[in-house]
Amino acid sequence: MQISCWFCSLLCLSLQSVPGTSVLHTLRYFYTASSNVPNFPEFVAVGYVDDVQIDHYDSNTRRDVPKQDWMKDAVDEQYWERNTGKRMNKQQVFKVNIEILKQRFNQTGGVHIIQVMEGCEWDDETGDVDGCNQHGYDGEDFISLNLKEQIWIAPNQQAFITKLKWDNNKADMSYRKHYLTKECPEWLKKYVNAGRSSLMRTDLPSIQLLQRTPSSPVTCHATGFYPRYAVMFWRKDQEEVLEGVDHGEMLPNHDGSFQMSVDLNISLIRAEDWSRYDCVFQIKGVEEDLTVTLDKSVILSNWRKSDGGVVAGAVVGGLLLLLLLLGAVSGFFLWRKRSGGFKRANTSDTSSSSAGESEMKTGTSEEQRGMITAPSS
Ligand SMILES: *[C@@H]1O[C@H](CO)[C@@H](O)[C@H](O)[C@H]1NC(C)=O
Ligand SMILES: *[C@@H]1O[C@H](CO)[C@@H](O)[C@H](O)[C@H]1NC(C)=O
Repeated sequence: MQISCWFCSLLCLSLQSVPGTSVLHTLRYFYTASSNVPNFPEFVAVGYVDDVQIDHYDSNTRRDVPKQDWMKDAVDEQYWERNTGKRMNKQQVFKVNIEILKQRFNQTGGVHIIQVMEGCEWDDETGDVDGCNQHGYDGEDFISLNLKEQIWIAPNQQAFITKLKWDNNKADMSYRKHYLTKECPEWLKKYVNAGRSSLMRTDLPSIQLLQRTPSSPVTCHATGFYPRYAVMFWRKDQEEVLEGVDHGEMLPNHDGSFQMSVDLNISLIRAEDWSRYDCVFQIKGVEEDLTVTLDKSVILSNWRKSDGGVVAGAVVGGLLLLLLLLGAVSGFFLWRKRSGGFKRANTSDTSSSSAGESEMKTGTSEEQRGMITAPSS
């Protein structure tokens, strides 16, 4: 589903290899609306340039604020006022939309989440640009834009009504195209210029080996690195190990750095062979590998007395919704893989929707477009 839009989602890139010389920049906005989540803002909007958060708005603070000092150089003084107004409008639109989608999925209560990612990428060398706009509901794809074909892709029946409506709105489509391929890249270039030194930095991670129980796989966990163009794997005698290896997802930390992990099943490894195994971390722009050799004495665990209460299990697992919400705070999205599937109350009926006028509005004014924010004047 996300092929036309792959760069929208951070986590889609987690297994990509380290890119070469070309410098691809992205400007992405993430919107999350939720209902019935205690102590969590109903609406959160954040922007990212590459992997760096540039602004934050939520329905509690009701102000769009810069997250980087250099953002202040990139925009005029009224920018934050204007954007605050746009975010407030969007908050209202999302509130309506979440109710409409609940109806469409025949849901009366419970926790529900709409997530929207939109943005553009720009290749520093070739000048190529591309754009994306995609919507999720309760952690699954709902509808996404195929910019090249200028059609909306609806993977399920509930989104089909929206697809028909949006496909038929030519004015809206051409506005979106203009925004994603012209305006958005202009802003992106401006931001990259202003933030160049911070965007181009490299931070190395700390790496640890963790284990839950004596028979569990050994997790090699790297945290604190930037940028996200990094790979990690297990090596035996200088050759990558493929069997018994499980790659975790790359996750954002709150300070803008990243973490990831890779597990090694040690059940078939003889004690005397342990020292032949290394966990290897490589990051773009750094020639040398960072390595940690498999060694019982360096493994942190919560079953071995000696290590003072480090809970290795804490790096593993977690509830989907909790992750979605944590993702919303930092602006990153954990899109549920479609095969997994959320249980829906009823998915058989498309005609009964009373989506009516307001559903994911495609009217003429900026607010009515609903799912679009042009961060421009
Ligand atoms: C919606 O759910 C209710 C309760 O489960 C059920 O009685 C009703 O038939 C459903 N309506 C539709 C249109 O699927
Ligand atoms: C590790 O490998 C053994 C032997 O192949 C297997 O029985 C076990 O289920 C594996 N453990 C995990 C956690 O995959």
